[in-house]
Amino acid sequence: MAEERLLALGIETSCDDTACAVVDNDGRVLSSIVSSQLAAHRPYGGVVPEIASREHLRNWPPVSAAALAEAEVTIEEIDVISATRGPGLIGALLVGLSIGKAIAYSLKKSFQGVHHLEGHLYSPFLSPDGEVAEKVPDEFLGLVVSGGHTSLFQVESSSTTTLAETRDDAMGEVFDKVGKRLGLAYPQGPRVDELAESGEGRRVKLTLARCSDGSLDFSYSGLKSQALLEIQKLEATGVDTNLEDVETDNTPEAVLDLLAGFRVAAVEQIVDRLDRLRQARPVELLAVSGGVAANRLLRRRLAEWALACRVDLRLVPLRYAGDNAAMIAHAALLRQGWGREDDPLSVEAASRIPL
Ligand code: KG4
Ligand code: ZN
Repeated sequence: MAEERLLALGIETSCDDTACAVVDNDGRVLSSIVSSQLAAHRPYGGVVPEIASREHLRNWPPVSAAALAEAEVTIEEIDVISATRGPGLIGALLVGLSIGKAIAYSLKKSFQGVHHLEGHLYSPFLSPDGEVAEKVPDEFLGLVVSGGHTSLFQVESSSTTTLAETRDDAMGEVFDKVGKRLGLAYPQGPRVDELAESGEGRRVKLTLARCSDGSLDFSYSGLKSQALLEIQKLEATGVDTNLEDVETDNTPEAVLDLLAGFRVAAVEQIVDRLDRLRQARPVELLAVSGGVAANRLLRRRLAEWALACRVDLRLVPLRYAGDNAAMIAHAALLRQGWGREDDPLSVEAASRIPL
């Protein structure tokens, strides 16, 4: 018998994007609206929590109206309301979570408070093209690479075990910090990736970090320090490293090569952990998600690795790599299917919570 069609509304306000989406229980995204607050935060050089909260409140009415309109549904037709409950900026989380709870309570709908990483983890199984999505497999290895996390999870029958995480900076965070040192605007990761495409990665070799205790944990702060030191060395030889408003074609070759070498080292650390994990246990399916999953070299290298190792690879569709609400609505429907339903009034926002 065919499953009943369910619709979920997702709300994501954990940082500086106000997002709302409608997803069905076949993993089809009916709408996914993401309103960026970059312009509001730019004068301060980073995300200002208080501004983020206020912007979420201001953006919510048009963003939610657009998500419902694009999906061609009314709020009454939605079965499950969901919102990110953490981790993230507490004030920002509270805006989305309170709105979600209020809608669910007043319209007597189910409510799911979703962990932000749970949203990312299952996002490679979202359908970007309106087709029925692949059913989320019972067992897989999940790699989440973002601005706040670099983590490997083993998923088994909807329960998640952390296999490795970063001991210091996250991968996206070091792309941002290295880019910031070069005068680029936040988030610097995508631009660093773009510039690295024009460099020669083999010219600058940076060290691959490993933990001395043999753990599979990641560590990116050493790589960041090496890259910053290399920038300093270039400056000492008279190279202009300020890339603010500089086109790729006018960027000094030495800087392009440095960024390419930095990107290779960052990506090879991921491949190193995957190789070592495979020596310890079989890996059949790898699902890669998070903002950094948009990185071009990471996508190419993992595709190559998966082919050579005969591992099934699911890379998150590009449009759902960065923070979005479709992944939250999708995870909410999965939770609903597993029989986990939250009492709308008791779910609390938390800036730090384990998955
Ligand atoms: O998942 P996400 O949108 O937010 C968090 O949960 O952190 O990830 C944002 C991070 C930022 O650090 C951003 O610079 C990075 O992902 N990022 C990239 C690329 N696109 C986004 N880093 C490297 N290469 C990219 N192409
Ligand atoms: Zn995220």
